[in-house]
Amino acid sequence: ALPEHCDFTVFGGTGDLAFRKLLPALFHRDLEGQLPDDFRIIGVSRSDLDTEGYQQLVREALPGHVDPAGHDPATYDAALQRLVGRLHHLVLDAEEPDDWHQLHGLLKDRGRTEAVGGPDEAVRVFYLAVAPALFGPICARLDEIGVVDPTARVVMEKPIGRDLASARAVNDAVGAVFEESQTFRIDHYLGKESVQNLLVTRFANTFLEPLWNSRWVDHVQITVAESLGVGERGGYYDGSGALRDMVQNHLLQLLCLTAMEPPTYVGRETVRDEKLKVLQALKPMGPQDVDRDTVRGQYRQGLVDGQAVAAYSDDLGRAGSSTETFVALKAEVQNWRWAGVPFYLRTGKRMDRRVSEIVVVFKEPPHAMFPGSEGATTANRLHILVQPDEGMRLHLTAKEPGPGGIRLRPVSLDLSYATTFTQRSPDAYERLLMDVVRGNPTHFMRRDEVEAAWSWVEPILERWDELGERPLRYPAGTTGPTAAAMLLERDGRAWQETD
Ligand code: BG6
Repeated sequence: ALPEHCDFTVFGGTGDLAFRKLLPALFHRDLEGQLPDDFRIIGVSRSDLDTEGYQQLVREALPGHVDPAGHDPATYDAALQRLVGRLHHLVLDAEEPDDWHQLHGLLKDRGRTEAVGGPDEAVRVFYLAVAPALFGPICARLDEIGVVDPTARVVMEKPIGRDLASARAVNDAVGAVFEESQTFRIDHYLGKESVQNLLVTRFANTFLEPLWNSRWVDHVQITVAESLGVGERGGYYDGSGALRDMVQNHLLQLLCLTAMEPPTYVGRETVRDEKLKVLQALKPMGPQDVDRDTVRGQYRQGLVDGQAVAAYSDDLGRAGSSTETFVALKAEVQNWRWAGVPFYLRTGKRMDRRVSEIVVVFKEPPHAMFPGSEGATTANRLHILVQPDEGMRLHLTAKEPGPGGIRLRPVSLDLSYATTFTQRSPDAYERLLMDVVRGNPTHFMRRDEVEAAWSWVEPILERWDELGERPLRYPAGTTGPTAAAMLLERDGRAWQETD
């Protein structure tokens, strides 16, 4: 249930994430009347701003992130006014004990609550939208100033570490202050409507599940393609690369939800228990597997949507980087259900378009019974479209109408969320932030999941390091290096591009 009183503190309160995602998400929830009256948002940053200045900044910036069009102007303005009224700002230098005392004072001063007749303690959320190196130190300070009570929650953004050891160190430091049940590690893919719908598609229907195994599934493809480049984020990105930035978290989470066993019910731990089992069943990648089954790429200049775009090195502002902006790889889940079924994963920046999807490719019918149809049938495929157009598409074979013999034709059954549902699809952060406020960790990454994902990814990173090869170049605006196509071709398969 929603607490009546909540202090939502954002470290990095003037940062990009706060302005692009967190504040708009809270604004939307507020607009829908879902924030309790006594809900304070405390922006903490090093910017020299008082509360009024912060309120002004947010008032001006928010309409750039939440389009007023489509909302009743009076309702929009009232909600903006309300949200701005919830804001506080605190200038904080992590090294300055006085600044921490001020935070303590603010959190203890629930003057506003008294006005609405509530208790003077609120549920405290601490959102760490700052560099991961600060996660541990901030938690230690929060502990010192005595604001971490049993209902307090901490929210962490990725990257949680850059390998297993550093992830453990972060988790240890945060875990010294917050219990695991108070710790919310965000993977925003888990908040996406279509990703949550994956569970429903699989487990609230009967027709798929009997086929969802190595007996009927030939292979699975998971693609998260972006048309954007690294933009202004080169500083972070160059030390990370696509494997750490996308595969270790988002793609592996999609793989888990696709491959996991049905939990008995959707509970705080049950779904995470099942996902963990999938991660633990991933076939470990030895050096030879890495050489054979992974492809690294980096974009060079090219055309995206007819526009000339720069190479990664130009976006970065220096040449010679060996960071990959594209990865394709072949994984396998070694368990009863999936043994022998390849899971092909790929993700990249500056690809031909923005599309994320999971494609389950079923086996060919065992026998071609329509004369002359050999080679004319295509395998059934279920496309689960995650973004930008959420939906599902099932590829089937049908008879082409006509009086002559039987001629086969591929057709598709399409489900588009946009035309099926009239409700607005909320942004992932809207759901996830409310889950934090409610204290529901189901759709957050548990410590063991994060670490299991790093354990699987780490040998790939190590092998790449050892080889010291530069990533293959691919022109911006394409589907990546040809070696990514070869990865499937070699197995007699091809990437399924959605038209
Ligand atoms: C983030 C990555 O986690 O996800 C970014 O750090 C990436 O590099 C982004 O662009 C993609 O998210 P979405 O929701 O736009 O698919």
